[in-house]
Amino acid sequence: MKKKKIGVLISGGGSNLQALIEACAAADYPAEISVVISNKESAYGLNRAREHHIPAHIINHKDYETREAFDDAMHTLLMHHQVDIVCLAGFMRLLSPAFVKRWQDRMLNIHPSLLPAFKGAHAHEDVLASGVRFSGCTVHFVRPEMDSGPVIVQAVVPVLPQDTLETLAARVLEQEHRIYPLALRWLAEGRLSVSGNKVMVKSAKAADGALINPL
Ligand code: GAR
Repeated sequence: MKKKKIGVLISGGGSNLQALIEACAAADYPAEISVVISNKESAYGLNRAREHHIPAHIINHKDYETREAFDDAMHTLLMHHQVDIVCLAGFMRLLSPAFVKRWQDRMLNIHPSLLPAFKGAHAHEDVLASGVRFSGCTVHFVRPEMDSGPVIVQAVVPVLPQDTLETLAARVLEQEHRIYPLALRWLAEGRLSVSGNKVMVKSAKAADGALINPL
């Protein structure tokens, strides 16, 4: 099996990047991380990549006059590393429609809510303010509108009366680290098909030819 090459875009701590790095370490995992790009120099995730000898680059959006020019610089670097699939992992910049189109159905994002509820950069705050009893996280294909696109997998967590931003974020992150490697595995194995806003997950075949239910 030829492993798919992954480019991971980050802006911060990179705990989801870490989960992907750890998943990729397994011999039977169908993907490997070829490059990590951060738009922020201070992103701790860059250290995580370097510790694992993964090429890590900073492309600061402030150095580019337009969103398109910034996205072009990222695209060039992704091409240089022969990337097949892009994973947004806490990447907090909107991408231009042209970039999104280039990576149509080959670019994933993880968001800390049950989309389409609670889009945006303050999902946990909004969840706590709303009084909902459950939250969670979503891995989805990226479309030009923020935090939208066909849903691949979600995980649900309870919202507890005593929750703070920190306790809720920690509970959700634990699930993010579980579902992101799972969604990437499915995509890398060619098991996802998209029809409109719906994603079908094909079963995998076990060594004896039996079908394994994806979930
Ligand atoms: C994660 O909770 C991720 O879902 C969220 O940022 C955090 C990054 O954490 N992403 C978004 O809000 C995107 N809209 P990490 O840097 O530790 O992976």
